[in-house]
Amino acid sequence: MPQMGRVAGKVALVTGAGLGLGRASSLLLASEGARLVVSDIDEGLATHTAAEIVRGGGEALALRHDVSKPEDWSAAMAAIEQRFGRLDVLVNNAGIAIARNIEDTSLAEWRRTMAINLDGVFLGCQEGIKLMKKSGGGSIINLSSIDGVIGEADLAAYCASKGGVRTLTKAVAVHCAEQRYGIRCNSIHPGYIWTPQTENYLRDLGTLEQEKAKALSRHPIGFLGEPNDIAYMVLYLASDESKFVTGSEMVVDGGYLAV
Ligand SMILES: NC(=O)c1ccc[n+]([C@@H]2O[C@H](COP(=O)([O-])OP(=O)(O)OC[C@H]3O[C@@H](n4cnc5c(N)ncnc54)[C@H](O)[C@@H]3O)[C@@H](O)[C@H]2O)c1
Repeated sequence: MPQMGRVAGKVALVTGAGLGLGRASSLLLASEGARLVVSDIDEGLATHTAAEIVRGGGEALALRHDVSKPEDWSAAMAAIEQRFGRLDVLVNNAGIAIARNIEDTSLAEWRRTMAINLDGVFLGCQEGIKLMKKSGGGSIINLSSIDGVIGEADLAAYCASKGGVRTLTKAVAVHCAEQRYGIRCNSIHPGYIWTPQTENYLRDLGTLEQEKAKALSRHPIGFLGEPNDIAYMVLYLASDESKFVTGSEMVVDGGYLAV
């Protein structure tokens, strides 16, 4: 395991770590010295990310973990405690986006979105706090979205879930601060980052190239983000460099929300 790095020796759990932002964040945290627990509903994907970390000289444990299930959280935390005895960083990253407006969204789609995007973060914060308290503190990082701040017509349930993540994060941050747990909690609000989720969402809307061009036009910076643009924010929030940052919403969006 590398001894040097911005998060050297910290134990970090990243959910939805098989693809996209979770994978990139896991690889970057590991390259900066963290010991990783990479979890995903798809065990094969989690194992793949873990293998890449180990090949790079890092330490990683892969777990199958559906963030919407309380029993999966209990099992994940027990496995982490057994293997590492502590938890310093939790990245509540797993999430889904269903391309439906308010009129088209079924109750089942609404509930599925809430179960993964909001129940998942709620359960993660509860379970994370329990283990971090024993470890003497930590950093919880919740993936919200620009859609946790503004509304997007074709993502009704997604917007509601990400808005919930935004203010839940603040409630958790204030509670942990008042209790002097040494636990910080912040949200990240990415613009469009090129990942499987973004590609699938744009395909659902219409012709991929046309939808990509439309998305691009809403980012003043002139390009879409790449996973490491978010991973570097995760790294900052995971490290002690951000020790005075809690309850904050970190926007990383190429200027999307600025206009
Ligand atoms: N990509 C973007 O442009 C963007 C923008 C704003 C916010 N986000 C948020 O960032 C997070 C990651 O997005 P992404 O683009 O990397 O997504 P992605 O679809 O590329 O990857 C998501 C990962 O989560 C896993 N997953 C899905 N359901 C799960 C569950 N119930 N339990 C555990 N794992 C599960 C998937 O298997 C996959 O590996 C999400 O919360 C997303 O809403 C993404």
